[in-house]
Amino acid sequence: MSKEEFKSSDYLPRFRASSYESERMGKGSGKGKTILFGEHFVVYGLPAIAAGISSETTAEVTRIDEPGWTLDDDRPAMPGYKNEKADEQEVSINNVIDFTGVDLSKRGIHIRFAGNLVCASGIGASAASCVALARALDDEFDLGYDDERVNEAAYEGEKGYHGTPSGIDNTASTFGGLVWYVRDLDGGPPVFNKMKLDKPVHLVIASTGLTASTKEVVGDVRAKKEEDPDWFEKIEDEYKDVVYQGRDALLNMDLKEVGTLMDRNHELLRQLTVSCRELNDLVEVARKSGALGAKMTGTGRGGNMIAIAQTKEEAKKIASVLEDNGAAGVWTTSFGV
Ligand code: MEV
Repeated sequence: MSKEEFKSSDYLPRFRASSYESERMGKGSGKGKTILFGEHFVVYGLPAIAAGISSETTAEVTRIDEPGWTLDDDRPAMPGYKNEKADEQEVSINNVIDFTGVDLSKRGIHIRFAGNLVCASGIGASAASCVALARALDDEFDLGYDDERVNEAAYEGEKGYHGTPSGIDNTASTFGGLVWYVRDLDGGPPVFNKMKLDKPVHLVIASTGLTASTKEVVGDVRAKKEEDPDWFEKIEDEYKDVVYQGRDALLNMDLKEVGTLMDRNHELLRQLTVSCRELNDLVEVARKSGALGAKMTGTGRGGNMIAIAQTKEEAKKIASVLEDNGAAGVWTTSFGV
């Protein structure tokens, strides 16, 4: 697929504003993220580590004369992504608006999503749009939200994409940086701490081009866990070692060890059946081209993989090999400082 095709938006908006009240608008943004350790395990209260990336989704909110809301979704996206997520997006937007209590029954709003985050499974695109919308509503309606409140609103939005989000995506999207995150299974606030590293870690993100349903994949893992709790517990126990050692290795900047642990985390995700051939192939390509470690990231069964590299130059080299070997899209970025 050419770069042009990959960057183009494949979504025809279902809703359009017929009249804008004024040029004044509320604005907000939310960052994309990758999960370095712990997707799926985080749903069950195990710690996970996520890194906010610099690409972001922006939202603009403009008041209109008609009730309700209308939408232009101008985010760049992988082909098919927006259509597949359209129904969930509608629920998500309603959830965020309901959370804020903004009354659109007489006069509504037009929402425009844009930004440089390319929407794909695994990059936190849904969370980034929820955070951006919460911030734009706050800006337009003077809600007085701090980041905590934005994060709470975005969490409600995430429920539109799947019923039981762990909250890691909206938290990484709201606060950015490198985040250690533990969900409270009793419904209380999560524990999360920002991790600061001595130097940036260079990251390559590659997309399979396939869109996955988080709701379906998380539901499937839950069903498997309920069917065979012993099998799940064994994998969980091994994962616990991985994530605690992963945190230490990151804080010590032992990138070789971080890479080895990412490889182990990928293997555990394979055992959970959330990886797929396309992801495994990209992971293999990244490892063979010099990555210190590589794994799928996010929901899985499509979406993205990540790989870490010793230097920026190495990351670029790995990215270019991935581009020539089946990746539908490739990005390089860094995290940690
Ligand atoms: C999705 O980015 C991460 C999952 O662990 C779901 C969640 O944490 O809500 C698969």
